[in-house]
Amino acid sequence: MKIKPIRGTHDLFGDEIKKFNKVVFEVKANARKFGFNELITPIFESSELFKKPLGEHSDVVLKEMYTFRDRNEDEITLRPEYTTPMIRAAISNGLLNNLPAKFFGTGQMFRRERPQKGRYRQFNQINFENFGSDDFFADIEIINVANTILNKILPNKKITLHLNTLGSRENLKNYKNILSKFFNDNKNFLSSESIDKINSNPLRILDSKNIEDKNIIEKSPKLIELISKSDLKLYEEIKNSLIDLNISIYEDLNLVRGLDYYCHTVFEFKTDEIGSQDTLIGGGRYNGLIKTIGGKDIPGVGWAGGIERIMLLMKNIKPEEKDIHLAIQEPTLKKHALKIYDILIKNNFNVYWNYKYNLKKSLSIASEKNAEYIVIIGEKENMNNNFSVKNLSTGEQKILDLNNIIDYLK
Ligand code: HAM
Repeated sequence: MKIKPIRGTHDLFGDEIKKFNKVVFEVKANARKFGFNELITPIFESSELFKKPLGEHSDVVLKEMYTFRDRNEDEITLRPEYTTPMIRAAISNGLLNNLPAKFFGTGQMFRRERPQKGRYRQFNQINFENFGSDDFFADIEIINVANTILNKILPNKKITLHLNTLGSRENLKNYKNILSKFFNDNKNFLSSESIDKINSNPLRILDSKNIEDKNIIEKSPKLIELISKSDLKLYEEIKNSLIDLNISIYEDLNLVRGLDYYCHTVFEFKTDEIGSQDTLIGGGRYNGLIKTIGGKDIPGVGWAGGIERIMLLMKNIKPEEKDIHLAIQEPTLKKHALKIYDILIKNNFNVYWNYKYNLKKSLSIASEKNAEYIVIIGEKENMNNNFSVKNLSTGEQKILDLNNIIDYLK
């Protein structure tokens, strides 16, 4: 029986796992710097947590959630995103007493999308959330965290920060009505996919990639014209502060994001090097969401990044320390070999033992795996209670006893 992996899932190993670990390492190191604490939540939650908060008409809720009933008939969903579970966890555990409360996490998410490069059905996200602050510094800080992490992992890559403001939630509601009316009046010029969204989710028409739609989208009413003076002033302050931090921005008036909970600042970090799934990080403000999930009426701002998408832009990582291989020539020499094996491990060397009992084979494996040294354990070494150590890059070989070998290798 040959069992295949499930479509849209992938295994991580070799060079990919090194990249993955590098991303997680940088996330954790920077989270510490910016004062965010780790919060790990379960992979599945009650479906209710996602349906209303993400939007009953959003693609995620309509088409992409992995939802099932368990043996008690409870409806459960594999988390499609991390913001709502983090809020649920903060409320469940009383973590919203000292505000702002800043959390981050990394982990698997699940969406039943059409798989392609950079888009999977199980993927890993990085997530940063700041609960409880209306201060525009929270917006700048969260964007700065994203920018800092991307710069650290992907130096020299051209990544553009797209920025927009959606104004208040009331404002956005008005705008949706205006847009629905406009697109209804111009139905004949829209693709059938967009026509389906006119009443349920007109904002999503704005980032349609369909060429038919582009023309009419260009003529559609612009959200920025409805935004209040005070909200625009706030937005200006955010832009100016980002410029002060040397973060360049591209203002994208059609940027609306795919989930329903956003208002005010929205942003995406994009690249043009990985094809159509080009958003590495997306996020924004979600005032009102914490209350919807049953918490206090406090604001929030955050982002999530796709680890696999970031990995598509990374170069292979060279191993920092190389391995030491053991070449044991006869099974009878295992007792002598164990002495060196044990002392190497205790001194933090990376040791590889291939169980081949054949010097030629061991040498070829060591060079294939790019080992730094090979320790040869033969009959002669056993008799004299020492070991031969060969430096595989210089070819130099020495005979040393247990006392000297560690000093030599260090
Ligand atoms: P999102 O835009 O749905 O936002 O996802 C954020 C990022 O996750 C995307 O930019 C992408 O890099 C990655 N991603 C999404 N779907 C997939 C997929 N199928 N395969 C691979 N990578 C994917 C959110 O999830 C919000 N919770 C972000 C947020 C946090 N907003 C406020 N706080």
